[in-house]
Amino acid sequence: MNNQPLIRLKAITKRFKGVIANDAVDFDLYPGEVHTLLGENGAGKSTLMHILSGLVQPDSGSIEIRGESVNIRSPYDSLRHGIGMVYQHFALVPNLTVIENIILGFEEGLILNRKRTESVLKQIFKEFELSLPLDEKISNLSVGERQRVEIAKALFHRSDVLILDEPTSVLTPIESEELFNTVFSMRRMGKAVVFITHKLKETIGISDRISILKLGKKVAEMSGEDLRQVGEEEGYRRIFDVMFDNTQLPKDTTTIKRSSEEMPILELDQVVCLGNFGEMRLKKLSLKLNKGEIFGIAGVDGNGQKELAEILAGQRKVVSGRLILDGNDITHEEGAGTRTDLGISYITDDRMQEGCALSMSVAENSILRLFKRPPFSRRKIMNKANINRHAEALIREFDIKVSGPDVDVGTLSGGNIQKILLARELSLHPKVLVCNKPTQGLDAKTTRYVKDRLQQESVRGTAVLFISSDLDELLSCSDRIGVLYDGELLDIVNRCDANRENIGKLMLGIRQ
Ligand SMILES: Nc1ncnc2c1ncn2[C@@H]1O[C@H](COP(=O)(O)OP(=O)(O)OP(=O)(O)O)[C@@H](O)[C@H]1O
Ligand SMILES: [Mg+2]
Repeated sequence: MNNQPLIRLKAITKRFKGVIANDAVDFDLYPGEVHTLLGENGAGKSTLMHILSGLVQPDSGSIEIRGESVNIRSPYDSLRHGIGMVYQHFALVPNLTVIENIILGFEEGLILNRKRTESVLKQIFKEFELSLPLDEKISNLSVGERQRVEIAKALFHRSDVLILDEPTSVLTPIESEELFNTVFSMRRMGKAVVFITHKLKETIGISDRISILKLGKKVAEMSGEDLRQVGEEEGYRRIFDVMFDNTQLPKDTTTIKRSSEEMPILELDQVVCLGNFGEMRLKKLSLKLNKGEIFGIAGVDGNGQKELAEILAGQRKVVSGRLILDGNDITHEEGAGTRTDLGISYITDDRMQEGCALSMSVAENSILRLFKRPPFSRRKIMNKANINRHAEALIREFDIKVSGPDVDVGTLSGGNIQKILLARELSLHPKVLVCNKPTQGLDAKTTRYVKDRLQQESVRGTAVLFISSDLDELLSCSDRIGVLYDGELLDIVNRCDANRENIGKLMLGIRQ
């Protein structure tokens, strides 16, 4: 490393109402380094990087870029200083194409020649191992592709610094590998990368340096090389010790199977449904979910997982076939509220758009879809005291980092928003719980807690449909795993027969 840091943040402090998000944090970044930021949900990682990207102004502290003191007043300012950020919740314009999004905001007044732009982009794609369809609209792209657009945009604006806020929480394992290749080529070119993640394996794999935040303070700095030398297990232990106050994370329990008796609670019979563009997404899918089981749905994203979740949640029409809940045909009892009342809860993978009302309070969000029920309302009059009590209980139970139930959900950290969604749906004790990537964006401790909770719910008799693209997660908690491929359940494998190889093959469409 050279002696001069590219970026130096000194004693950065940022308070929001009721919380201190960053407390005198020092952070620096050298050319050609990958610097990872770790910390539990709400520790202040995104805020610190929002200060560097100009989205948030610090209360005090200073920023130096290449030795010079600067003020960063807006994301545009930051981009001018060579800093690009891929946000935890992306910021692209859905109706514009890839190339239009990339050049958006580029040097005001400069009219760009399309041919030249294209050739610059092609060169960037080659150097940094990216690939993208330039004329496709953003709304037609997968999440992984959208992320690549954000990265290409930063590189096109000649950023020397790229900040990635939990980039892999939305990627499939293969897409993550591709992203790491891009990060490594940036490092080779002398650029610097800030990487925020909750995944310790990748932290140890890619970091040159690691900084750990806790309650807004920087509490440790470690060398990636040292952690690789001591081995994964000891490396994890060192990180946990700092992140979670020396509490050892319990080992993942491959739990006891409950009663082997099959008691179907939900049946899908030859279900057909269409996607957003009228294409067939579920092709005569049949499946029986038993009381008290966790049924994992594996598959590469985009093979019908979202549609499967949505037809159960009452948010998408069944074109033909039937849904039977507890012996009753509920195919045409549509609507999210109706299905909640029937005992089907849904944890969506899209917490920002669908899962929560961001401009409403934690208390209001904790009773979405329940507000008509006692004890929250009687004769159309809301009982605020009961609602607050309910919200406070959930805040305690899920250790949600928020100063009180009146705070707007939109101001919470990503992981804490996810916790609200989980807390609300789990508090309903549904007959059937449909969850799509429920641990997305959660820190290691909360992830374990959520998996334990799903186990407990299933022991109580709830049937859990657990959709995830993380195979290890599915293998660790499912009783059976069904593999969804191109709208069909290719096979269903019992836990004792399931492993990375056979499920992995099925995910690629290869039948045994
Ligand atoms: N605009 C805001 N208004 C009020 N509070 C905020 C705002 N932005 C962040 N906070 C608070 O600051 C604290 C730190 O949040 P931040 O988003 O930086 O955490 P994080 O470490 O990125 O967490 P996660 O892992 O969950 O993404 C949280 O308590 C959060 O609620
Ligand atoms: Mg964050």
